[in-house]
Amino acid sequence: MLNEKITKLLNEQINKELYSGYLYLDMANYYADQGLNGFENWFYVQAQEEQSHAMLIRQYLLNNGEAVVFTPIDAPDEKYSDFKEPLTKALEHERYVTDLINKIYEAAEGIKDYRTIKFLDWFIQEQGEEEKNAEDNIRKYELFANDSKGLYLLDNEMKARVYVAPSLVMD
Ligand code: FEO
Repeated sequence: MLNEKITKLLNEQINKELYSGYLYLDMANYYADQGLNGFENWFYVQAQEEQSHAMLIRQYLLNNGEAVVFTPIDAPDEKYSDFKEPLTKALEHERYVTDLINKIYEAAEGIKDYRTIKFLDWFIQEQGEEEKNAEDNIRKYELFANDSKGLYLLDNEMKARVYVAPSLVMD
């Protein structure tokens, strides 16, 4: 069993991770519509990652005998005025998610829930990577995408990203 507040926060985080997947899929749709299939691929893979984050939390709740409660997922309502905008919105979003994870961590610390702290360690590290990836995308865009040839090459690089399942092992 887990503490009631922790369970509530983790259930909310499942929703946030699924929303993240929805948001990134929406960005993938935007790039597909613009003919940038590499950027589309990158965000499609990112959406898969978010789905896996949600499933890890679901599994953690189930492993601890807690009910998983699904709530409606908001529709992404972003409109993008240029190719760079989804990249900056993605970074903003990841910073927001980092904050959410930190808040669950703080709550777990507050009640000495060491099991949840250990579980969240993976997410703390993952958020560092998520923010760095988002920052790298912006930097690459600024460096290389200032003409159509550079954009084409960057799009090809983004095409190479493949989904890798998370390495977190839970018993
Ligand atoms: Fe699940 Fe991008 O954080």
